[in-house]
Amino acid sequence: MQQTSLITGASSGIGLELARVMARNGINLVLTARREERLNQLKKELENQYSVRVHFIPLDLAKPESPQQLYNFCQKEELNIDILINNAGIGDYGLFQKNEWEKTATMIDLNMKSLTHLTRLFLPDMIQRKNGRIMNVASTASFQPGPLMSVYYATKHYVLAFSEALANEVAEHNVTVTALCPGPTKSEFQETANMQKSKLVDRLPMPDSAEVAEYGYRAMVNGKRVAVHGVMNKIMAKAMSFLPRCWVTATVRKIQERK
Ligand SMILES: NC(=O)c1ccc[n+]([C@@H]2O[C@H](COP(=O)([O-])OP(=O)(O)OC[C@H]3O[C@@H](n4cnc5c(N)ncnc54)[C@H](OP(=O)(O)O)[C@@H]3O)[C@@H](O)[C@H]2O)c1
Repeated sequence: MQQTSLITGASSGIGLELARVMARNGINLVLTARREERLNQLKKELENQYSVRVHFIPLDLAKPESPQQLYNFCQKEELNIDILINNAGIGDYGLFQKNEWEKTATMIDLNMKSLTHLTRLFLPDMIQRKNGRIMNVASTASFQPGPLMSVYYATKHYVLAFSEALANEVAEHNVTVTALCPGPTKSEFQETANMQKSKLVDRLPMPDSAEVAEYGYRAMVNGKRVAVHGVMNKIMAKAMSFLPRCWVTATVRKIQERK
């Protein structure tokens, strides 16, 4: 039987490319994000190219009622979600005390609360069916504190810690949880996060979202718990556990400083 995957943040970047990878692999889709026209375009593209059914529902996932609305939509359409991809997320560049509180609060609600709520809603059905996969998009930011993006790094630390613990809890039910940790990747993220001023964006050539999505999909299918994309990122993530914390934090700040 064809599987169905729910992808949040499917209107651009990594989420959009994950939708393409899933469709190529014959997986039906439920897509969500705020920009309805983009979701509609993607539905047309994927249904034209592949033998898959694509549903979409435009939602602002930072709103507290949205996860339940998404779950109700799937129930109403009789869509069993075999694969949940919690990908939607935003960042915000700058000093914490100068950043706009509204955006900081939205980031916390989107990156952590909606991801956790969606997992809480869809997981019991997976456990009951004794089958399911969850992939939460974390980041290489999950492994250390990040001055000049302090809240973003902290939200991604949460995503990693939550995913690893949950993977342990649900393994006995044949449900896997993968934390995908991309490094800086070409997408709309840098613009949304006002990162054009950061040195980080010019530091290294960035992989594109399609490459990261393909890597994440493979890692998820293989049931990998923590999937760090890229060799250098893997080395850095490992190194964080034994390097002095103060030095690491100061170095991240230097890398993130304005150009
Ligand atoms: N790009 C990077 O360098 C990088 C590195 C590590 C991790 N990540 C993580 O990768 C994930 C995907 O980011 P990306 O790089 O693909 O960035 P992106 O191109 O900006 O995509 C973000 C997606 O999230 C959706 N979104 C934003 N706010 C939303 C809201 N309030 N409600 C519902 N959907 C919302 C956006 O859709 P709408 O605007 O249409 O709502 C869009 O589809 C994020 O969790 C990000 O933290 C990115």
